Amino acid sequence: MNIIAFNGSPRAGGNTELLLSETLKAIDPDLHRIQLFRLNQVDIKPCQNCGGCDDTGICVIKDAMDDIYEAIRLADRIVLASPIFFFGLSAQTKIMIDRCQAFWCEKYLLKKTYTSEPHGRKGLLLLVGGMKSDTGIRCGEATARAFFRSISVPEHETLGFLNVDAKGSIVDHPTAFQQGFEAGARLVK
Ligand SMILES: Cc1cc2nc3c(=O)[nH]c(=O)nc-3n(C[C@H](O)[C@H](O)[C@H](O)COP(=O)(O)O)c2cc1C
Repeated sequence: MNIIAFNGSPRAGGNTELLLSETLKAIDPDLHRIQLFRLNQVDIKPCQNCGGCDDTGICVIKDAMDDIYEAIRLADRIVLASPIFFFGLSAQTKIMIDRCQAFWCEKYLLKKTYTSEPHGRKGLLLLVGGMKSDTGIRCGEATARAFFRSISVPEHETLGFLNVDAKGSIVDHPTAFQQGFEAGARLVK
């Protein structure tokens, strides 16, 4: 299978990266192709709401998002990992998601579908927040759900971890790594 993973955290060695890495360990690279996008290092412009994709489903902005569009089209499994920032997904994650308006147009305006055979398309959402309140997880989940449906991923699982704030402190969480690993294994089962 083709697996793509997005790390939406700007913090190298941070909680999102550690959790994502543990999750991907469950996926055998000899059996599957894994492509990781560190969104903080990808130079993509935010959606301009120019309407340029309305009639074609193709974004008129030409930048590093072209590789991501291609990867999303070919993916069987998509992992989206983000820290919670101000009760939502990180800006790095959200910029990428907004640029997927092109897929939204393709699906809902142009009614184009593309094959998801033979594996179907599934998603996995990984969220890490420093607060105890789950508002950020719920808001992030709502945005990610809209993202997954727009890119024709009909089902996804969500893992959200709260009260994980200091860099790397997710290692002290009692179940996060185990849950991440198991979710990674389920994703390719
Ligand atoms: C700009 C900013 C905003 C944040 N807002 C929230 C928030 O609304 N809710 C929350 O639970 N944590 C919030 N946090 C804490 C981060 O989610 C937390 O530190 C997380 O572990 C960061 O993950 P990372 O190490 O992968 O970057 C915020 C952190 C930053 C830097």
